[in-house]
Amino acid sequence: MKQSSGRGNFGSRLGVILASAGSAVGLGNIWRFPTEVGSNGGAAFILVYLAFVFLLAMPVMVAEFVIGRSSRANTVGAYRTLAPGKPWIVAGFMGVVAGILVLSFYSVVAGWTLHYTVDSIGLRLMGPQDFAAVFNNFVSNPWKPLIFQYVFLLLTHVIVSRGVESGIERFSKAMMPMLLVIIVVLACCSLTMPGARDGLTFLLKPDFSKVTTKVVLSAMGQAFFSLSVGIGCLATYASYFKEDTRLVNSAFSVCVIDSLVAIFSGFIIFPAVFSVQGVQVDAGPGLVYITLPNVFNLAFGDVPFLGYLFSVFFYVLLLLAALTSTISMHEIATAFFRENYRLSRRTAATIVTLICVVLGTACSLSFGVWSEVKVMGMGFFALFDFLTAKFIMPLGGILLTMFVEWYLDRKLVVNELTNKGTVRVRSLRLLLFLIRWVAPIGVGVVFLNELAS
Ligand code: PFF
Repeated sequence: MKQSSGRGNFGSRLGVILASAGSAVGLGNIWRFPTEVGSNGGAAFILVYLAFVFLLAMPVMVAEFVIGRSSRANTVGAYRTLAPGKPWIVAGFMGVVAGILVLSFYSVVAGWTLHYTVDSIGLRLMGPQDFAAVFNNFVSNPWKPLIFQYVFLLLTHVIVSRGVESGIERFSKAMMPMLLVIIVVLACCSLTMPGARDGLTFLLKPDFSKVTTKVVLSAMGQAFFSLSVGIGCLATYASYFKEDTRLVNSAFSVCVIDSLVAIFSGFIIFPAVFSVQGVQVDAGPGLVYITLPNVFNLAFGDVPFLGYLFSVFFYVLLLLAALTSTISMHEIATAFFRENYRLSRRTAATIVTLICVVLGTACSLSFGVWSEVKVMGMGFFALFDFLTAKFIMPLGGILLTMFVEWYLDRKLVVNELTNKGTVRVRSLRLLLFLIRWVAPIGVGVVFLNELAS
């Protein structure tokens, strides 16, 4: 078996799917997806989004799986192994930088989530309050959000330091089922609320007149971010897959799980939001931190305890989802430092965590004392978000698919996809067509549009 010693492996097929789905399912599904659905008109956006998940993002995911497993190396090492001396390696470095940048701003929101979890448990979200003021005061405070962000980064650090099987896989296997159960329970609760019918109509009845260019582009960006594709995150995970892991099946399962979680998050949030008067569906990023606390207080009228339980479970859900994603971002750079500089996993992880603490501090402070510090007209949080989601991820997606279809030997690719001819992949031709043409061209269109906007 072709494996570099001491790298570690995912121990089971379920572990592979749950770890990869853990990376994909995150704040992107439960915080960003409903926000995007709310601001982009509902059901029609969801349909466009689902089309992009399966036509564009899934082919990129499969490309990442092929690169990762065939090289058995971190993203930079993968290009070094598969295309020695060629400029493709730049795509690998881009992934490492992007992983660090995403983790730096994502951990800010993860820190807010930790704070809201603690507050919801401690009953501090109960009772009528000006939740917008509460949120704005908190995020602009110079040190409070930082403490929660550092705690979150530390949690991520501890899990990543423990390694692939006893850290990442074990954690994902324990957390993902719990997360799926919480989602289903909360969705069922939400669907019994008085506004359920309006919420469902908003989510399920498409109005295609609402599909504008902006809606299409947002759906594509959301599909990439939500599936964690384009920066070598899943290539890094795939480097720990076993020889008999079925790449296409696993990618399909991850896409299905991720889409279901996103849609179920809609089932949780919109029936609840439509149940309370004066609360807006298009509240933007404040939906989860400003709108929902209002919902928790108002929707349960006579039984505030139910509102309390709902809020606690909701923020715990968000927290677990965020953590399984941050460990995957952290792993991109940890694997790189570890293998490139021959460091121990712990030392490599410490370097990554320290870099993220520094950059993450800048992102957090951009909501408060550094709000006037601008680079290219943006604060650090917005800048890192822009650079990664709108620039590096799409560009990475184009490079990854082009590398697999135009540079790698077709035989190697087919061997990886069919596990050396031992498994039959029914739609192999279609998949190769998507990787070769549809994904790079489709993503290229978004990319150019994003740049032009
Ligand atoms: N897919 C994650 C989410 O939806 O929250 C975010 C993410 C994870 C982006 C890992 C990029 C990444 F490498």
